[in-house]
Amino acid sequence: MSALPFSKILTSLNAVLAAVGLLTVAALTTPDISGETRLALQILLICVWAAYVFQLIETLVMQQAKDVRGAGVEIAVDVLAVLIPLVAFLFIRGRDQSLYCAIWLLKPLRGSTFFRLLGRVLTKEARNLIGVTSIFGIVLFVAALAAYIIERDVQPDKFGSIPLAMWWAVTTLSTTGYGDEIPQSFAGRILAGLVMMSGIGIFALWAGILATGFYEEVRRQDFVRNWQLVAGVPLFQKLGSGALIEIVRALRPRVVPAGGIICRKGEAGDQMYFIVEGRVSVATPNPVELGSGSFFGEMALITGEPRSATVSAATEVSLLSLYASDFQMLSSSSPEIAEIIRKTALERRGATPKS
Ligand code: CMP
Repeated sequence: MSALPFSKILTSLNAVLAAVGLLTVAALTTPDISGETRLALQILLICVWAAYVFQLIETLVMQQAKDVRGAGVEIAVDVLAVLIPLVAFLFIRGRDQSLYCAIWLLKPLRGSTFFRLLGRVLTKEARNLIGVTSIFGIVLFVAALAAYIIERDVQPDKFGSIPLAMWWAVTTLSTTGYGDEIPQSFAGRILAGLVMMSGIGIFALWAGILATGFYEEVRRQDFVRNWQLVAGVPLFQKLGSGALIEIVRALRPRVVPAGGIICRKGEAGDQMYFIVEGRVSVATPNPVELGSGSFFGEMALITGEPRSATVSAATEVSLLSLYASDFQMLSSSSPEIAEIIRKTALERRGATPKS
């Protein structure tokens, strides 16, 4: 069953609807909004809620029609988005009634691939993140302890106990520095400087771990996707596993819409293309169409001459491109494939008269 048209509209408008709903909730907390404006905002909230009722119905219909993977979370979010504001409307009176619509914060997260990616990165890097968090905790305690010892007699109201000094330690270690608690003694100021520098180091470590985690996860996803695409090109089925891994890393996927120009005659060529799906049209004097499993753009790569013909997408086409430097790698790891490409280039060169 295909998606209902309404669902298509609503999917793209999901984040906008949530933003409108949440801004309305925020506006309703302003005390000096007049009665009429308040009513208009409340009607707006009801409209957003009604849209979410439709989305819930649609999700349930889709769920019945086919087993949608991960639909459990989506259904839970859709049910909560409808149920919580309804319960608040029926049972809660007063200014807090609309606050329950803040549950719509969950809506943009629904089905978001980014949050799935974040979840995987956090799970994978959990050990390192916990390690750095432990260092943060240790430094925090040591800083509060030292500040307590150094400043307790000078400022007993602010540093008179370790829990009191802890607030100073948190704001200093996070380099927020509200300035409500400032060490007065020389030793206290030296300590503050050290704590600030440790804070910068700890946050840099957190940022580094997360950045590396994201980079590796995105690379892994690219690898898996490329692997599936490479499996669709018969030429690569001859490769051994080592060479296959190298080529999967080297190839870059690209989708060109029907009619799009992929390379132009006369241009310098630094990459060749393998067709995973779709067809391309080669504008030789007798135009040629190439389909999935074929390759093109190899002539410029091998001869170093400009592109011999313009190649455009006859249908939407999914390609894998290979740069000249990676072609050298392919030549050494898999000479038989490089030989097929070279032979084809020579044959095509013979068949394509120079103009
Ligand atoms: P290149 O010259 O790099 O760029 C244009 C490409 O079109 C060329 O490489 C070949 O891959 C392809 N091509 C050129 N002539 C023919 C032909 N006669 N048959 C099939 N493909 C061709």
